[in-house]
Amino acid sequence: MSSDGDLPVRFYNLLSSQQSFLNEVLAGLTKPQKQIPAKFFYDGRGCELFGAICELPEYYLTRTETAMMQRFAAEMAQLLGAGCLLVEYGSGASRKTRILLEHLLPPVYIPIDIACEQLRASSRDLAQAFPGMQVVAVCADYSEPIVLPECSVTGLKRKAIYFSGSTIGNFTQAETVVFLKRALQLVGPGGAMLVGVDLKKPQAQLDAAYNDSRGVTAEFNLNLLARINRELKGDFRLENFRHRAFYNAKEGRIEMHLESLIAQSVTVQGRRFDFSAGETIHTENSYKYSVSEFQQLARQAGFEPLRAWTDAQQLFSVHYLSASG
Ligand code: AVI
Repeated sequence: MSSDGDLPVRFYNLLSSQQSFLNEVLAGLTKPQKQIPAKFFYDGRGCELFGAICELPEYYLTRTETAMMQRFAAEMAQLLGAGCLLVEYGSGASRKTRILLEHLLPPVYIPIDIACEQLRASSRDLAQAFPGMQVVAVCADYSEPIVLPECSVTGLKRKAIYFSGSTIGNFTQAETVVFLKRALQLVGPGGAMLVGVDLKKPQAQLDAAYNDSRGVTAEFNLNLLARINRELKGDFRLENFRHRAFYNAKEGRIEMHLESLIAQSVTVQGRRFDFSAGETIHTENSYKYSVSEFQQLARQAGFEPLRAWTDAQQLFSVHYLSASG
């Protein structure tokens, strides 16, 4: 644990070592359909590129969800209630969170993110902006079980989780149910969860959002290989791979891949991996759900979906899930 000067920020780093990055990359490249988990996109450069994606004209998700927060956060805060211990998964730059915090004013805020440096900076900013709020930042992989640090604040009424950005769509449906079950346990009886979920929509609009004309998403995807080169002594030649993203209608998800342009061999810490021309590494799924499809998954996990907000164009949804005790 470390604390940040005079600001009420405690910082915990629960990330396991580089070993897990190495092990997951080696295991993923050994599978018949090569794959690397999407959580490894977010090194410093990956966070910068994701920030740039959120500003792209084609990437409607962030803009739409932010506008929805501006419109509905007061109502969301009312449902969550005063005296809330608010946990945020994948807090990132915490831009949408600010809007919720302004209405909710929780006594304790626990942002959890895999990108430690960005988490440190955004937690400090939020502690400065909300002086009465205790900030307990946890750098961790929230796709794994997490035990929250002890909080000494008295009079807390309930725990709630905020998970925005449709990051839940980066899990498969089976993983989503497991993840939501863990979330239900974490908030406990009487707790709640607020989740941003991208909606199904015409394929052309989805394809464009993940194939932007400026090539930022392509750079974001390829940065994964650059990161492996930097951190795991890999020798990927980025010019021999290209970004591919497409909507898989049967699965209801965008898939991102890195396609090998030629037959080639690559090594990562001395282990050799062969690619045929056209072979891909599957790097991300981004599931899109109708309101009722997502509510069904939430019910399977044991939550009671009580409210769902959507924008006027039906691009995005935010769900309020209750852990009725
Ligand atoms: C973080 N996550 C919700 C983004 C998404 O849309 O699945 C990541 C992303 N990948 C490509 N563009 C954005």
